[in-house]
Amino acid sequence: MTRVLRSVVTGVGGYLPDEIVTNDDLAKVVDTSDEWIVERTGIRTRRRAAPDQAVSDLAVEAAKRALAAAGRTPADIDLIIVATTTPDLTFPATATIVQRKLGAPIGIAFDVQAVCSGFVYALSVADGFVTRGRSRCCLVIGAETMTRLMDWTDRGTCVLFGDGAGAVVLEPQGGEGTIVDRGLLGFALRADGTKQDLLYVDGGPSTNGQVGKLRMQGNQVFRHAVVNISEAVTAAAADAGVEVSSVDWFIPHQANQRILEGVARRLGIDEKKVVTTVGEHANTSAASIPLAMAQAVEDGRIKPGQLLLLEAMGGGLTWGACVLRL
Ligand code: UT7
Repeated sequence: MTRVLRSVVTGVGGYLPDEIVTNDDLAKVVDTSDEWIVERTGIRTRRRAAPDQAVSDLAVEAAKRALAAAGRTPADIDLIIVATTTPDLTFPATATIVQRKLGAPIGIAFDVQAVCSGFVYALSVADGFVTRGRSRCCLVIGAETMTRLMDWTDRGTCVLFGDGAGAVVLEPQGGEGTIVDRGLLGFALRADGTKQDLLYVDGGPSTNGQVGKLRMQGNQVFRHAVVNISEAVTAAAADAGVEVSSVDWFIPHQANQRILEGVARRLGIDEKKVVTTVGEHANTSAASIPLAMAQAVEDGRIKPGQLLLLEAMGGGLTWGACVLRL
């Protein structure tokens, strides 16, 4: 008997723009090397959107693939949430642009801005609509053109980021209210605005009227990452009522190979359970989790019914984690 409504992921899709930028390409722009980037970050390549591609274009491609995987069409969509820190325009929300480009009917559409944690935050927001019966078919998209925010004279940041998009379709399904249910099972979301200076963009419409460039004290962010993420993961697992050790796949935000490994080690997660795309995608901010998820679903590693653990940390600072059964 149905006791609760759950938000179930019924389709996943990812999209990467065509242009591949290698570490050697970047070594022609700033004083860096393939050896340094690989050793400190695990990154070998990243994608760059074409000059005429806006973030909504990446989002639409990922959304189409997620809809196809779910057996849905744009006509079914009643809610679109885009997690992005690189919107097409200051307004309207990129979600409404995606709605128009997909040809989706009038419904609800808005953006969530929590930088690299945006996808986890957006899932939590969407869960509120779906489990209260206010959405029957929801698109949650993480999409970024991070290369547009780079200071190409700052070797400490410009080598780390890439462009891409990932999307999931969420639909309501009845559950028993236990951990065997499919769907979003637990969350932990966190923010600490006192750490703004560690990672931010130095522009905005209500300050200097500029788009701005990304500024980061990388080693300081690194210091907070493993501890913060581990606490949130433990809290999300407790919220879901599962043990971290019972998770089938760990899908972290892809910022740095060393952070992924540090978090997995601290939580006692087997490295074979960690989905890693940072080497090829670099840090795609809010897009990195759904992109990694899409890749592992498409190549058959992640199977329906498996328990997934997502986590992210980024500007704000914001961080968070989510446990779901596919
Ligand atoms: O998604 C949002 C969350 N973001 C993150 O999680 C990023 C977290 N931080 C990191 O991933 C790392 O801190 C970085 C990869 C950004 C940097 O690695 P690090 O081991 O913390 O290096 P560092 O910043 O302490 O810098 C060490 C040295 C410095 O040189 P000196 O001052 O020791 O001579 C840097 O100037 O490495 C230098 N350096 C580089 N050298 C070659 C910094 N960037 C580069 C580079 N190529 N690209």
